[in-house]
Amino acid sequence: MLIKTKTQNMEQPSAFPVKTREMHNHHFDSTIWNEFPFRDDDIIIATYAKSGTTWMQQIVSQLIFNGIEGLEVAEMSPWLDLRIPPREVKMPPLEAQTHRRFIKTHLPLDALVFSPKAKYIFIGRDGRDVIWSMYNHHYNANQHWYDALNLTPGLVGPPIGKASDSVVEYFQEWLDKDGYPFWSFWQYLNSWWPARNLPNVHFVHFQNLKDDPAGEIKKIAAFLDIPVQGETFDAILEHCSFNYMKKNAVKAVPLGGAFWDGGAETFINKGVNGRWKDVLSAEESAKYEAIAAEKLDPACEKWIRTGQM
Ligand code: A3P
Repeated sequence: MLIKTKTQNMEQPSAFPVKTREMHNHHFDSTIWNEFPFRDDDIIIATYAKSGTTWMQQIVSQLIFNGIEGLEVAEMSPWLDLRIPPREVKMPPLEAQTHRRFIKTHLPLDALVFSPKAKYIFIGRDGRDVIWSMYNHHYNANQHWYDALNLTPGLVGPPIGKASDSVVEYFQEWLDKDGYPFWSFWQYLNSWWPARNLPNVHFVHFQNLKDDPAGEIKKIAAFLDIPVQGETFDAILEHCSFNYMKKNAVKAVPLGGAFWDGGAETFINKGVNGRWKDVLSAEESAKYEAIAAEKLDPACEKWIRTGQM
Protein backbone atom coordinates (compact mmCIF):
# COMPACT_ATOMS: atom_id res chain seq x y z
CA MET A 1 0.00 0.00 0.00
CA LEU A 2 1.18 3.50 -0.72
CA ILE A 3 1.04 6.16 1.93
CA LYS A 4 2.53 9.30 0.52
CA THR A 5 3.51 12.75 1.79
CA LYS A 6 1.19 15.64 2.57
CA THR A 7 2.11 18.28 0.00
CA GLN A 8 0.92 17.09 -3.30
CA ASN A 9 -0.87 17.59 -6.53
CA MET A 10 -2.36 14.86 -8.68
CA GLU A 11 1.02 13.56 -9.79
CA GLN A 12 2.80 13.91 -6.50
CA PRO A 13 2.49 11.61 -3.54
CA SER A 14 -0.54 12.22 -1.27
CA ALA A 15 -0.76 11.94 2.52
CA PHE A 16 -3.41 9.32 2.27
CA PRO A 17 -3.55 5.62 1.51
CA VAL A 18 -4.15 4.69 -2.10
CA LYS A 19 -6.09 1.64 -3.21
CA THR A 20 -3.90 -0.77 -5.15
CA ARG A 21 -6.03 -3.88 -5.60
CA GLU A 22 -9.48 -5.43 -5.59
CA MET A 23 -10.59 -8.23 -3.29
CA HIS A 24 -13.16 -10.81 -4.22
CA ASN A 25 -14.14 -13.96 -2.38
CA HIS A 26 -17.25 -15.58 -0.89
CA HIS A 27 -17.79 -12.42 1.21
CA PHE A 28 -16.03 -9.54 -0.54
CA ASP A 29 -16.63 -7.34 -3.52
CA SER A 30 -14.27 -4.42 -2.99
CA THR A 31 -15.31 -2.68 -6.22
CA ILE A 32 -18.36 -1.14 -4.55
CA TRP A 33 -16.08 1.52 -3.02
CA ASN A 34 -14.70 2.65 -6.39
CA GLU A 35 -17.64 4.90 -7.21
CA PHE A 36 -18.80 5.42 -3.65
CA PRO A 37 -20.13 8.97 -3.20
CA PHE A 38 -18.53 9.85 0.13
CA ARG A 39 -19.91 12.61 2.31
CA ASP A 40 -17.41 14.62 4.29
CA ASP A 41 -18.89 13.55 7.62
CA ASP A 42 -19.10 9.82 6.86
CA ILE A 43 -17.79 7.46 9.53
CA ILE A 44 -16.21 4.21 8.42
CA ILE A 45 -15.89 1.37 10.94
CA ALA A 46 -13.07 -0.97 9.97
CA THR A 47 -12.11 -4.34 11.44
CA TYR A 48 -10.68 -7.65 10.28
CA ALA A 49 -14.01 -9.24 11.46
CA LYS A 50 -15.10 -10.51 14.88
CA SER A 51 -13.22 -7.70 16.55
CA GLY A 52 -16.05 -5.60 17.91
CA THR A 53 -17.51 -4.19 14.69
CA THR A 54 -21.11 -4.47 15.90
CA TRP A 55 -20.15 -3.00 19.26
CA MET A 56 -18.56 0.01 17.52
CA GLN A 57 -21.61 0.40 15.27
CA GLN A 58 -23.73 0.53 18.42
CA ILE A 59 -21.39 3.09 20.03
CA VAL A 60 -21.37 5.31 16.96
CA SER A 61 -25.16 5.08 16.56
CA GLN A 62 -25.60 6.02 20.21
CA LEU A 63 -23.32 9.01 19.80
CA ILE A 64 -25.05 10.20 16.65
CA PHE A 65 -28.54 9.78 18.09
CA ASN A 66 -27.88 11.00 21.65
CA GLY A 67 -28.38 7.68 23.38
CA ILE A 68 -31.92 6.92 22.21
CA GLU A 69 -33.19 3.35 22.16
CA GLY A 70 -34.71 1.24 19.42
CA LEU A 71 -32.37 2.20 16.57
CA GLU A 72 -32.17 -0.28 13.70
CA VAL A 73 -28.39 -0.17 13.80
CA ALA A 74 -27.58 -3.12 11.55
CA GLU A 75 -29.93 -1.84 8.87
CA MET A 76 -28.57 1.71 9.08
CA SER A 77 -24.94 0.66 8.91
CA PRO A 78 -24.38 -1.83 6.11
CA TRP A 79 -21.22 -3.83 5.50
CA LEU A 80 -20.53 -2.12 2.20
CA ASP A 81 -17.99 -4.58 0.76
CA LEU A 82 -20.07 -7.66 1.55
CA ARG A 83 -21.25 -8.86 -1.86
CA ILE A 84 -24.76 -9.48 -0.52
CA PRO A 85 -27.16 -7.85 -1.14
CA PRO A 86 -26.07 -6.40 -4.49
CA ARG A 87 -25.24 -2.72 -4.72
CA GLU A 88 -28.58 -1.85 -6.39
CA VAL A 89 -30.23 -2.93 -3.14
CA LYS A 90 -27.62 -1.65 -0.72
CA MET A 91 -26.89 1.80 -2.08
CA PRO A 92 -30.29 3.59 -2.37
CA PRO A 93 -31.17 3.46 1.36
CA LEU A 94 -27.65 4.58 2.22
CA GLU A 95 -27.87 7.49 -0.19
CA ALA A 96 -31.27 8.40 1.23
CA GLN A 97 -29.97 8.68 4.80
CA THR A 98 -30.09 12.22 6.10
CA HIS A 99 -28.32 11.54 9.40
CA ARG A 100 -24.57 11.15 9.69
CA ARG A 101 -23.71 7.86 8.05
CA PHE A 102 -21.66 5.06 9.60
CA ILE A 103 -20.57 2.25 7.35
CA LYS A 104 -18.83 -1.04 8.05
CA THR A 105 -15.89 -2.49 6.13
CA HIS A 106 -13.66 -5.51 6.59
CA LEU A 107 -11.29 -4.70 3.74
CA PRO A 108 -7.55 -4.31 4.11
CA LEU A 109 -6.67 -0.68 3.53
CA ASP A 110 -4.90 -1.35 0.27
CA ALA A 111 -8.17 -2.68 -1.17
CA LEU A 112 -10.28 0.20 0.14
CA VAL A 113 -10.87 3.62 -1.38
CA PHE A 114 -9.79 6.06 1.32
CA SER A 115 -11.50 9.43 1.74
CA PRO A 116 -9.33 12.15 3.28
CA LYS A 117 -12.45 13.71 4.81
CA ALA A 118 -14.40 10.73 6.18
CA LYS A 119 -13.42 9.47 9.64
CA TYR A 120 -12.15 5.93 10.10
CA ILE A 121 -12.45 3.99 13.35
CA PHE A 122 -10.29 0.88 13.32
CA ILE A 123 -10.86 -1.82 15.94
CA GLY A 124 -8.25 -4.47 16.68
CA ARG A 125 -8.41 -7.69 18.67
CA ASP A 126 -5.87 -10.46 19.29
CA GLY A 127 -6.11 -13.06 16.50
CA ARG A 128 -6.82 -15.85 18.98
CA ASP A 129 -9.84 -13.93 20.31
CA VAL A 130 -10.92 -13.18 16.76
CA ILE A 131 -10.90 -16.85 15.88
CA TRP A 132 -12.66 -17.92 19.05
CA SER A 133 -15.38 -15.48 18.09
CA MET A 134 -15.29 -16.48 14.42
CA TYR A 135 -15.66 -20.13 15.32
CA ASN A 136 -18.90 -19.39 17.13
CA HIS A 137 -20.05 -17.29 14.15
CA HIS A 138 -19.16 -19.92 11.54
CA TYR A 139 -20.05 -23.09 13.47
CA ASN A 140 -23.53 -21.78 14.27
CA ALA A 141 -24.21 -20.36 10.81
CA ASN A 142 -27.30 -21.91 9.22
CA GLN A 143 -28.06 -22.94 5.64
CA HIS A 144 -29.25 -19.39 4.77
CA TRP A 145 -25.71 -18.12 5.46
CA TYR A 146 -24.09 -20.77 3.26
CA ASP A 147 -26.62 -20.26 0.50
CA ALA A 148 -26.22 -16.47 0.55
CA LEU A 149 -22.42 -16.68 0.39
CA ASN A 150 -22.07 -19.59 -1.99
CA LEU A 151 -25.08 -19.36 -4.30
CA THR A 152 -25.40 -15.60 -4.83
CA PRO A 153 -24.18 -14.98 -8.39
CA GLY A 154 -20.74 -13.43 -8.70
CA LEU A 155 -18.87 -15.78 -6.36
CA VAL A 156 -15.13 -15.55 -7.02
CA GLY A 157 -12.96 -18.35 -5.65
CA PRO A 158 -14.05 -21.40 -3.70
CA PRO A 159 -17.29 -21.54 -1.73
CA ILE A 160 -17.05 -21.46 2.04
CA GLY A 161 -17.37 -24.89 3.67
CA LYS A 162 -18.50 -26.09 7.08
CA ALA A 163 -16.47 -25.30 10.19
CA SER A 164 -14.57 -28.14 11.83
CA ASP A 165 -16.05 -29.73 14.95
CA SER A 166 -12.93 -28.65 16.82
CA VAL A 167 -12.14 -25.02 17.59
CA VAL A 168 -8.45 -25.86 17.94
CA GLU A 169 -8.37 -27.47 14.51
CA TYR A 170 -10.24 -24.46 13.12
CA PHE A 171 -7.72 -22.10 14.68
CA GLN A 172 -4.75 -24.11 13.41
CA GLU A 173 -6.04 -24.16 9.87
CA TRP A 174 -6.62 -20.38 9.97
CA LEU A 175 -3.09 -19.91 11.26
CA ASP A 176 -1.40 -22.38 8.92
CA LYS A 177 -3.28 -21.22 5.83
CA ASP A 178 -2.95 -17.47 6.44
CA GLY A 179 -6.53 -16.64 7.35
CA TYR A 180 -8.33 -19.55 5.68
CA PRO A 181 -11.26 -19.70 5.01
CA PHE A 182 -11.33 -15.91 5.33
CA TRP A 183 -8.50 -13.48 4.53
CA SER A 184 -5.01 -12.85 5.85
CA PHE A 185 -4.98 -11.34 9.33
CA TRP A 186 -1.33 -10.28 9.02
CA GLN A 187 -1.79 -8.63 5.68
CA TYR A 188 -4.89 -6.88 7.02
CA LEU A 189 -3.04 -5.45 10.03
CA ASN A 190 0.00 -4.50 7.96
CA SER A 191 -2.22 -2.55 5.60
CA TRP A 192 -3.87 -0.47 8.37
CA TRP A 193 -1.03 -0.02 10.86
CA PRO A 194 0.85 2.69 8.91
CA ALA A 195 -2.37 4.77 8.81
CA ARG A 196 -2.82 4.87 12.60
CA ASN A 197 -1.56 8.45 13.00
CA LEU A 198 -3.52 10.00 10.16
CA PRO A 199 -5.76 12.80 11.42
CA ASN A 200 -8.94 11.07 10.25
CA VAL A 201 -8.06 7.61 11.62
CA HIS A 202 -8.67 6.47 15.20
CA PHE A 203 -7.49 3.10 16.52
CA VAL A 204 -9.39 1.30 19.29
CA HIS A 205 -8.46 -2.03 20.85
CA PHE A 206 -11.24 -4.42 21.92
CA GLN A 207 -9.56 -5.04 25.29
CA ASN A 208 -9.24 -1.34 26.06
CA LEU A 209 -12.89 -0.83 25.21
CA LYS A 210 -13.74 -3.69 27.53
CA ASP A 211 -11.56 -2.36 30.38
CA ASP A 212 -12.60 1.28 30.14
CA PRO A 213 -15.72 1.75 28.01
CA ALA A 214 -16.38 5.26 29.37
CA GLY A 215 -12.85 6.45 28.62
CA GLU A 216 -12.75 4.89 25.16
CA ILE A 217 -16.21 6.12 24.20
CA LYS A 218 -15.25 9.65 25.24
CA LYS A 219 -12.21 9.44 22.97
CA ILE A 220 -14.38 8.19 20.11
CA ALA A 221 -16.86 11.04 20.68
CA ALA A 222 -14.02 13.58 20.64
CA PHE A 223 -12.61 12.06 17.46
CA LEU A 224 -16.03 12.34 15.81
CA ASP A 225 -16.57 15.88 17.16
CA ILE A 226 -19.73 14.81 18.95
CA PRO A 227 -20.18 16.51 22.34
CA VAL A 228 -21.78 14.27 24.97
CA GLN A 229 -22.33 14.63 28.67
CA GLY A 230 -24.42 13.92 31.74
CA GLU A 231 -27.43 11.68 31.46
CA THR A 232 -26.99 11.22 27.73
CA PHE A 233 -23.56 9.77 28.31
CA ASP A 234 -24.91 7.43 31.01
CA ALA A 235 -27.57 6.21 28.58
CA ILE A 236 -24.97 5.68 25.86
CA LEU A 237 -22.81 3.65 28.22
CA GLU A 238 -25.76 1.51 29.25
CA HIS A 239 -26.88 0.92 25.64
CA CYS A 240 -23.38 -0.15 24.63
CA SER A 241 -22.91 -2.59 27.50
CA PHE A 242 -22.67 -6.28 26.71
CA ASN A 243 -25.79 -7.19 28.67
CA TYR A 244 -27.90 -4.52 26.97
CA MET A 245 -26.63 -5.48 23.53
CA LYS A 246 -27.23 -9.18 24.16
CA LYS A 247 -30.79 -8.45 25.26
CA ASN A 248 -31.40 -6.18 22.26
CA ALA A 249 -29.26 -8.11 19.79
CA VAL A 250 -31.91 -8.34 17.07
CA LYS A 251 -31.50 -4.67 16.11
CA ALA A 252 -27.70 -4.70 16.24
CA VAL A 253 -26.89 -7.94 14.43
CA PRO A 254 -26.99 -8.35 10.62
CA LEU A 255 -30.45 -9.43 9.41
CA GLY A 256 -31.63 -9.67 12.98
CA GLY A 257 -29.54 -12.82 13.37
CA ALA A 258 -31.39 -14.78 10.66
CA PHE A 259 -28.14 -16.44 9.52
CA TRP A 260 -27.39 -18.14 12.85
CA ASP A 261 -28.86 -20.99 14.84
CA GLY A 262 -30.02 -19.32 18.01
CA GLY A 263 -30.47 -16.01 16.20
CA ALA A 264 -28.94 -12.66 17.12
CA GLU A 265 -27.98 -13.74 20.63
CA THR A 266 -25.61 -16.29 19.13
CA PHE A 267 -23.73 -13.43 17.46
CA ILE A 268 -23.40 -11.33 20.63
CA ASN A 269 -21.87 -14.36 22.25
CA LYS A 270 -19.60 -13.95 25.29
CA GLY A 271 -17.99 -10.53 24.85
CA VAL A 272 -14.73 -11.43 26.57
CA ASN A 273 -11.16 -12.09 25.50
CA GLY A 274 -8.86 -14.93 26.46
CA ARG A 275 -11.27 -17.86 26.07
CA TRP A 276 -8.51 -19.65 24.16
CA LYS A 277 -6.16 -19.58 27.15
CA ASP A 278 -7.46 -22.77 28.73
CA VAL A 279 -7.87 -24.54 25.40
CA LEU A 280 -4.75 -23.90 23.33
CA SER A 281 -1.57 -25.59 24.57
CA ALA A 282 1.41 -23.39 25.45
CA GLU A 283 3.08 -24.58 22.22
CA GLU A 284 0.07 -23.73 20.06
CA SER A 285 -0.14 -20.28 21.56
CA ALA A 286 3.61 -19.73 21.23
CA LYS A 287 3.37 -20.69 17.56
CA TYR A 288 0.74 -17.98 17.01
CA GLU A 289 2.93 -15.44 18.80
CA ALA A 290 6.00 -16.43 16.80
CA ILE A 291 4.13 -15.99 13.52
CA ALA A 292 2.73 -12.63 14.70
CA ALA A 293 6.26 -11.50 15.59
CA GLU A 294 7.54 -12.58 12.20
CA LYS A 295 4.73 -10.99 10.18
CA LEU A 296 4.09 -7.72 12.02
CA ASP A 297 5.94 -4.57 12.92
CA PRO A 298 6.94 -5.08 16.62
CA ALA A 299 4.78 -2.16 17.77
CA CYS A 300 1.78 -3.56 15.89
CA GLU A 301 2.41 -7.05 17.29
CA LYS A 302 2.42 -5.62 20.82
CA TRP A 303 -0.67 -3.51 20.22
CA ILE A 304 -2.80 -6.28 18.77
CA ARG A 305 -1.79 -8.61 21.63
CA THR A 306 -2.16 -6.11 24.49
CA GLY A 307 -3.82 -2.90 23.34
CA GLN A 308 -0.73 -0.91 24.32
CA MET A 309 0.48 1.58 21.73
P1 A3P B 1 -17.46 -13.05 21.07
O1 A3P B 1 -17.87 -13.93 19.93
O2 A3P B 1 -16.06 -13.30 21.54
O3 A3P B 1 -18.45 -13.04 22.18
P2 A3P B 1 -18.07 -8.42 15.30
O4 A3P B 1 -19.19 -7.50 15.55
O5 A3P B 1 -16.83 -7.77 14.76
O6 A3P B 1 -18.50 -9.62 14.53
O7 A3P B 1 -17.59 -8.95 16.72
C1 A3P B 1 -18.42 -9.77 17.50
C2 A3P B 1 -17.81 -9.89 18.87
O8 A3P B 1 -18.00 -8.67 19.61
C3 A3P B 1 -18.46 -11.01 19.68
O9 A3P B 1 -17.43 -11.56 20.50
C4 A3P B 1 -19.45 -10.22 20.52
O10 A3P B 1 -19.88 -10.87 21.67
C5 A3P B 1 -18.62 -8.99 20.84
N1 A3P B 1 -19.44 -7.87 21.34
C6 A3P B 1 -20.47 -7.26 20.72
N2 A3P B 1 -20.99 -6.30 21.51
C7 A3P B 1 -20.24 -6.29 22.65
C8 A3P B 1 -20.27 -5.53 23.85
N3 A3P B 1 -21.17 -4.57 24.07
N4 A3P B 1 -19.35 -5.81 24.81
C9 A3P B 1 -18.42 -6.77 24.61
N5 A3P B 1 -18.35 -7.53 23.49
C10 A3P B 1 -19.25 -7.29 22.53
